Parts: sequence; C-alpha cells; structure tokens
Amino acid sequence: MSTVVTTDTVRAAIARDGAGTLLARCGALAKCTDKSGELLRTFLSPAMEQVHQRMRPWFEAAGMTVGADRVGNLRAIYPSISGDDSPRLLIASHLDTVPNAGAYDGVLGVLMGLALVEGLGGRQLPYSIEVIGFSDEEGTRFGLPFIGSRALVSRLDEALLKNKDASGTTISEALRDYGAVHPDSPEPSLAPSASAYLEFHIEQGPVLESKGLALGIVESLASQSRCHLAFYGFAGHAGTTPMILRRDALAAAAEWMTRVEMIASDVEGLVATVGQISAEPGGVNVIPGVVRCSLDVRHAEDAACSAAVKAILNEARAIVARRGITVEAEEYHTQPAVHLDPTMIAIAETSVRQTGYTSMRMTSGAGHDAMVIARHLPSAMIFLRNPGGISHHPDESVLETDVAAAIHAGLCFLDEFALLLRKKGSDLRV
Ligand code: GLV
Ligand code: MN
Ligand code: MN
Repeated sequence: MSTVVTTDTVRAAIARDGAGTLLARCGALAKCTDKSGELLRTFLSPAMEQVHQRMRPWFEAAGMTVGADRVGNLRAIYPSISGDDSPRLLIASHLDTVPNAGAYDGVLGVLMGLALVEGLGGRQLPYSIEVIGFSDEEGTRFGLPFIGSRALVSRLDEALLKNKDASGTTISEALRDYGAVHPDSPEPSLAPSASAYLEFHIEQGPVLESKGLALGIVESLASQSRCHLAFYGFAGHAGTTPMILRRDALAAAAEWMTRVEMIASDVEGLVATVGQISAEPGGVNVIPGVVRCSLDVRHAEDAACSAAVKAILNEARAIVARRGITVEAEEYHTQPAVHLDPTMIAIAETSVRQTGYTSMRMTSGAGHDAMVIARHLPSAMIFLRNPGGISHHPDESVLETDVAAAIHAGLCFLDEFALLLRKKGSDLRV
C-alpha cells in the first residue's frame, strides 16, 4: 500500500465522486423502514438489520472488517499501517431515525466515515479508523436517546434497561432477543486504543444556509431534558356533563401546552416541545380522563435548561390545582451541555480551510452521539448546511456540493490528525 500524501486537487476530485455515491447510498438506506409509507427505523428493529446487511459489503469493499456489537452498533475497522496497537480515530453517527424521518439525519455521518476510508484509496495511516453506526440516538423506540453510544462508553444501568417500548418490551428483553439471534456479537466497548472522535451531521437548522456557508464546526451542544407527564382528570359523558362540572385532563394539558410555548418564547435560546400526546379513553363522546405527554427542553446553558423545566412543571401543577385534577411529572433524561475539544475543533477548522471553504463555529441545539463520547474522547463535529433548515421531516435534504466539501475537508482532517498524533503522541484522551 502506498503512503504518498495526495494533493488537494486529487482530494477534491475524490470528494466529488464520493458525494454522488454517498447520496445514492442515503437514498437506498432510506428504503429500509419499519413502517410502510414513511421512514422509521428504530433500535434493533428489522429495518435496522436490513441497513446493516446493505452496508456490510460497502465496508468490506473498502478494506474494512465489519461486525455489530451486542447493542446493535455497526462497527467497521480500517487497519493502521503501524499495526494493532496504533491509536484509533472513531468516525461515527447513528442509523436510527425519528418517525417520518428524512434520509440524512445520522446515516449521512456514518456514510461519511465510509466515504473517507474509500477516499484513501487503500492508503493506510499511522492510526486505525473505526466507523460506527450507532443503533439508537433518537430514542424513538424507548423514549431514551443515545443507547448505542452510551453502551459504547459505559455499562447500561439497571434502571435504563427496565424502560419499555410501546409494546411493553424492556430494553433488557430487546437486547436478550438480539443476543439470541447474534450470539457471537461482542459486548460493546470502546477500544483501548481509541484516541479521538469525529462526527459529521447535517446541521438540522437554518444557520449555515443563512450565512451562505457549506460547513460549520460545532463548539458545544446544548443541554437537554426529557420528561413524561400524566394529567389525571375524570372521564365522563360528553353530552350530559355540564362544562362547570368537568375534570377534563385534555383541556388542562392543552392549557399547559400553550404556557410551555409562552415560557420558552420568553427566554432567549430556550426551546421546549411537547411532541407526544395521548388521551384516554379516546372516545369522541367521552371527556378525556387521562392525558399522557412528553416534554423536551433545551438551552445552551445547563442552569437555564433546568430552570425552565422547573418553571414548566410548576405551571402544570398550578393549572391542575385550579382545575381540581392532578398531574404526575418525571424528568427521566437530562444531558448537560457539552463543549467539544479545542484541539480537535482547531484541526477541523484547518481542514475546512484547506478545502478553500470558510466555516463558522456554532452551538448545536440538536443532541448528537458526540455529546456522550466527548466525555471520554477528544471530539469534533462538522455540520453540513441543511437547506431550509428542514430536519426530522421527510423533506430533509443536503446539497451534493456540500457533501463533496465535507468529504474533502474530512480527507484533510485525516492527514491533520496524523500530524497531531505525531506532535502530541497517541494519548489525546480527556
Ligand atoms: C436528535 O436529533 C435530537 O436532537 O433529539
Ligand atoms: Mn435526529
Ligand atoms: Mn441525528
């Protein structure tokens, strides 16, 4: 294998070819869905298995060894020229989706890892590359995000394993069933040689487009909290119960939701979303007795995020007290804000500059696997412009020229990372 460093003209040409292939692959993988008529792919689902089967030969053709670990993370390794003890760069994102998803959120980042290895054209580096497709980042199946990346860096705790999906299956049972079908899959663990982490992702927002930039460098990721709420009123006859005597759980939840919107609108940078709601018993002529809903709150600062959650839940308590009903609320997931590694950020910036593009530093309002991994490895994230800022929607898109810019920058990053290791040694861990 050759160790000749390619020129930027060659890299740009490789990137242009790679971008077309990457987008075609995103299109092909978007057909692997658990629900006909829309893209939905969840933790350990049949569609996730199909995606693994589709991707495996691509990784193998690029000279990588590919497998899946016991939590369903797809893991493909490209060897170092300097042997098994060499440092390792992880390039990863997730393969699961939200309901009615677009074709790029997550998958694009995994395919970027593959495109970069392909772009090396067989050239090996003084470190190995591991491309990971995490099995769950969105939390669609169990309401709990980052299962794949969490399992990579630490043991999943007992409380987490007891969470149930809509059919009543616990995470623990889902993992047991997956293990029965994949008995040889190894327990997930971070390779001792893992030195750093790189994630590419569409921005999922409008900022890069508004600045006319193809690529952005993530400096930090916002703090996030998720809660379950249940409003308990009293079900009754829709025709005979006078308005004054009702204890309508849905009317209370609706009042609360408008307050959620107002509270979030009053704080700079705060976002709060009620994305799921169900009313029981669910008859057109029955006053709703129970309403269950979700709450997702985010802010760049941990303190602002937790203060908002407190205010929003207090508002729910005040509303139910006035209406003579009750509410139960549980904050079941918090993820503090994360700042990415200054050295990795700097080499990501240098790499983009080498392509001739300008980038900007930004905060991500979206959650990403990098939030989990950055606590263990120096990490960087590169965002790609997302036309219209449309994401978590089937119209999500990305420009081929921006994908080419990202591949070009990524190829520069691979060589910059080799220089960094030469300068600093292999132990870059935080
Ligand atoms: C994932 O996309 C999230 O930010 O919730
Ligand atoms: Mn997402
Ligand atoms: Mn994502």
